[in-house]
Amino acid sequence: MKLRYQLTAAFTALLLVIMAVTGYVIYSLILNLLVQDEQRQLEQKGEILVSVLNTQYGSNQDIQQINGFLQDQDIQLFMYDRRQDSVLYSTMSNKVVKGFVKSNDFSGNDQLWEYGKDKFVTSRILLYPETTSLELILLTPMKDIQVIQQNFFFRLFIVFLIGAGVAVLLSYLLTSRLVTPLSLLKRQLKKIEKRQFDDIERIKASGEIKEVEQSVFEMAGELQRYMNSQQTFFQNASHELKTPLMTIQGYAEGIRDHVFEAEEEEKGLEVMVSEVKRLKTIINEMILLAKLDSEPTVYQSEKVNVRELIDHVVERVLPLVNEKGITLEHDVADNLTLLADEEKLLRALLNLVFNGVRHAKTQVRISVYKQQRILTIEIEDDGKGVAKDLRPHIFHRFVKGKDGETGLGLAIARAIVQQTDGKISVDDSELGGARFKITFPN
Ligand SMILES: Nc1ncnc2c1ncn2[C@@H]1O[C@H](COP(=O)(O)OP(=O)(O)O)[C@@H](O)[C@H]1O
Ligand SMILES: [Mg+2]
Repeated sequence: MKLRYQLTAAFTALLLVIMAVTGYVIYSLILNLLVQDEQRQLEQKGEILVSVLNTQYGSNQDIQQINGFLQDQDIQLFMYDRRQDSVLYSTMSNKVVKGFVKSNDFSGNDQLWEYGKDKFVTSRILLYPETTSLELILLTPMKDIQVIQQNFFFRLFIVFLIGAGVAVLLSYLLTSRLVTPLSLLKRQLKKIEKRQFDDIERIKASGEIKEVEQSVFEMAGELQRYMNSQQTFFQNASHELKTPLMTIQGYAEGIRDHVFEAEEEEKGLEVMVSEVKRLKTIINEMILLAKLDSEPTVYQSEKVNVRELIDHVVERVLPLVNEKGITLEHDVADNLTLLADEEKLLRALLNLVFNGVRHAKTQVRISVYKQQRILTIEIEDDGKGVAKDLRPHIFHRFVKGKDGETGLGLAIARAIVQQTDGKISVDDSELGGARFKITFPN
């Protein structure tokens, strides 16, 4: 069942239960109230009768005359003498009077009398209290009161019916307000499923639904960015892989068809070997990046002595440094340690230092220091530096300069540094070239 109907049904059921209980309570109280009210009215009638009798007949208590007067009133009553315990007069027939006398105690205080199957509400008033013991007893049949009660109940029922109608309508409107944003949200989720990110619309809602809507919107944005980056990655990757393959194919076909001279053929083979090497590097780096991204378990954190780590880096790059005839300085503060995967971090630093050596004119400098609990590793050179407009993208995959190789080195370095809870950035070095800075909060 749809949420809207479930909510409406629950709301309506609750209202009906409340109305039924209220109705029952009112119905059972109303009879008592009506009886009390009837008694008050009888009392008033009695008092009026007595005062009329007093003014019309004064102290001349001629029973016959009074009888005549009472006969003219359309009232059921007895005139009862307490002292003699007898009914002197009644507006009802003799048979009825006898029946009443038989089943009720006239000298008692019962307020409800019985006659046959019927009940009567009574009210008693003393007539000439100073001189006589005469009493007027006025009666109203319960049936009359029950008719009023039925009537009242009928109206109550109608009011409740209208109330129930309004309640259903109201609950429908209220639940619509609640459910409409949800169905709109569902539609947006469908769009996300179909990857129609540009068609996604914001939804007006409040409270928790608003929060969910906000999260969905952010999730869609994140997903779109992710998918775009994946797409660019595949485009770049296929381009990067295709170029060396085409070169290899060209030379291979040329050699097969004997279109080259001996010397050219030799050169072609060399190009093919170097392109295959390049392909291997690209593929290895892509595999490494994919691993770094998808398997958090490839990181084995341990306590790393930073000085030893930098020594390893220097050992590895020294041959190339010597070959290029430049200088490599390193300046590492004592007793610095770091919680990291040593092998991966070495890889990240090597990527940066090899870049530095490649781009440097005369020198590369590595410095490591700790300030305010932040450990910083800087790698700088005196080359051309990284162009300002390239800086925001330089750590992305396959982004490289004119003299670039695979364009994956910095992306790998960033992935490793981020997994070690560090940050990496690039700016200008005092030496004149680029300065790559890695920071680890400790
Ligand atoms: N020390 C540096 N000085 C100047 N440019 C640099 C330096 N390091 C990196 N770059 C630029 O950043 C690009 C990306 O570097 P990287 O991701 O290591 O790829 P690759 O080295 O394979 O080209 C390089 O192509 C180069 O243009
Ligand atoms: Mg590189």
